[in-house]
Amino acid sequence: MRCAVFASGNGSNFQTLLDRRASGDLIHADFVLMVGNNSKAGAFDRARAHGIPTLHIAPSRFPTEEAYAERLSSALKEAGVELITLAGYMKKLPPAIVALYRNRILNIHPALLPAFGGQGMYGSNVHKAVIDYGAKVSGVTVHFVDDEYDHGPVILQKAVPVLDDDNEQTLAARVLQAEHECYWQAVEAVAAGRIKIIERRVIRC
Ligand code: GRF
Repeated sequence: MRCAVFASGNGSNFQTLLDRRASGDLIHADFVLMVGNNSKAGAFDRARAHGIPTLHIAPSRFPTEEAYAERLSSALKEAGVELITLAGYMKKLPPAIVALYRNRILNIHPALLPAFGGQGMYGSNVHKAVIDYGAKVSGVTVHFVDDEYDHGPVILQKAVPVLDDDNEQTLAARVLQAEHECYWQAVEAVAAGRIKIIERRVIRC
């Protein structure tokens, strides 16, 4: 599948997808476009280093959300994008894009949904909330994107322990490591068509 990666920051998850593609583990997703809202994002450098076309598109520069969605959808169509992977993308996608790519947009969240998700739950906020709550496990959730934050059907989860002496940084590093180990597996399963979706349940087949 022709795949676009959306990223706003460092792009370490994007890098692991590129690495798995290069190593031959990720065979059914071809990265044809990188989209970002922040021109300084490290993800842009990673895309350029791999010769992947980039699109810098800042929603705030458009008069309406519809105009933004139209520009985005024409760029995606032009690149023949069939699958979208969000890898640290900090903007909510317009409903028109979610509708156009229903069950073809993946997101990775650094906690075990439905706990510690939703609006405002990103970056260190998530890990602080997990530690403050006293949870003993956290982890990674890869899920499809729907119209609500961190809500679509779950494709894959991986747990990591929360240790007694953890702070936001140490927990974030352990979770990020787990993210790097598993995002490509979910992308490969979806791109290869090896899943079935029955209501909210995503079944590997
Ligand atoms: C990851 O923790 C991911 O779960 C979240 O944003 C972060 C992106 O990190 N959605 P990176 O830019 O891939 O390093």
